[in-house]
Amino acid sequence: MAVLVTGGAGYIGSHTCVEMLNAGYEVVVVDNLNNSSKESLNRVQKITGKKVKFYENDVRDKEALRKIFNENNIEATIHFAGLKAVGESVREPIMYYKNNIESTLTLIEVMTEFNVKKLVFSSSATVYGVAKEMPLKEGMPTGAINPYGRTKLFIEEILRDLYVSDNSWSIALLRYFNPIGAHKSGIIGEDPKGIPNNLMPYIAQVAVGKLEKLHVFGNDYNTVDGTGVRDYIHVVDLAKGHVKAVGYVLKNEGCEAINLGTGNGTSVLQLRDAFVKASGVEIPYVIDERRPGDPDEVYADADKAKELLGWEAELGVDEMCEDTWAWQSGNPQGYTE
Ligand code: NAD
Ligand code: UD1
Repeated sequence: MAVLVTGGAGYIGSHTCVEMLNAGYEVVVVDNLNNSSKESLNRVQKITGKKVKFYENDVRDKEALRKIFNENNIEATIHFAGLKAVGESVREPIMYYKNNIESTLTLIEVMTEFNVKKLVFSSSATVYGVAKEMPLKEGMPTGAINPYGRTKLFIEEILRDLYVSDNSWSIALLRYFNPIGAHKSGIIGEDPKGIPNNLMPYIAQVAVGKLEKLHVFGNDYNTVDGTGVRDYIHVVDLAKGHVKAVGYVLKNEGCEAINLGTGNGTSVLQLRDAFVKASGVEIPYVIDERRPGDPDEVYADADKAKELLGWEAELGVDEMCEDTWAWQSGNPQGYTE
């Protein structure tokens, strides 16, 4: 029996493949390499000493998916494949709706044909929209503030409708907070194309000299030091959460939204300081304007994951910085070298 991992060559997908293989699962990856490199999967095999079966296809290609389900004994799917850049989604909303929603619809159609009804979906804390209180709990109201977030919200609703129509499905909607860090080996990690939008890859690229200085987006927020606070989660903890979620959907029926976060908030300057400590490299910074739409604080209530999945994050911000530094300093050009 195997688990299909869509988008498995990407950042979170590759780390999840490692943890799934380590847990004894057979892994089949489908990825169109739109935002990733096949090299990540070579390195997954190097870390684990195990084989990953790879199909270079778009998840929207129904015939290709049918072939994958015909050739492999798939028992569950982890669905990472999707576009994820907020700014790009504002400029290219149709591309985001087409890619993220069509791929999910095609996937669930083919899963239904093959009677595979166990699904773990990559959702995001962005589905809470502009929340009035923290920490964020799964039962709180949802809302999206950009097309990317709307694709996640719509897909959550589609999957809930699917479950209502057929109770034999089992679906985990995993709402990630801010994944950062890299595998301990330092040979897989986050490899964003172009100038990073997100804080940690930006800091890491300043550290290796690819970027000149960090731009801190606002220091007048209502937080500990005025800079934005987020719930950063180590990507390896997140990956282990997926292993638990697969175990859960294999045993239970239902459709559950589950936060994957640590419950702890860290400010921009605190993360920058932790990175300086971990790397020994100075990270110059300037205070800039706020980025439109950024809230003061976002952090999870992580209790439901503990109760349902028996999972909680174990690694702290220091490890997140050390492991990011090992990856970035060892692979300054990412996978392209
Ligand atoms: P990523 O871009 O590294 O990985 C996504 C992978 O999906 C890529 O390898 C890409 O090539 C592939 N892909 C995209 N569209 C595809 C398609 N139509 N067919 C086949 N493959 C396709 O991103 P990531 O950070 O690993 O994120 C994985 C998932 O988690 C995404 O759905 C993302 O929206 C979600 N998520 C990410 C974060 C984050 O901060 N990284 C936070 C919340 C949710
Ligand atoms: C981003 C996404 C969000 C996604 C989340 C989880 C955007 C606008 N939002 O949110 O949809 O769910 O990641 O991965 O991309 N910052 C700086 N300088 C920088 C970059 C960021 O000061 O160069 C600050 C931001 O203002 C924020 C914090 O760092 O306070 C974290 O930013 P980022 O890494 O982009 O994550 P989010 O904004 O939480």
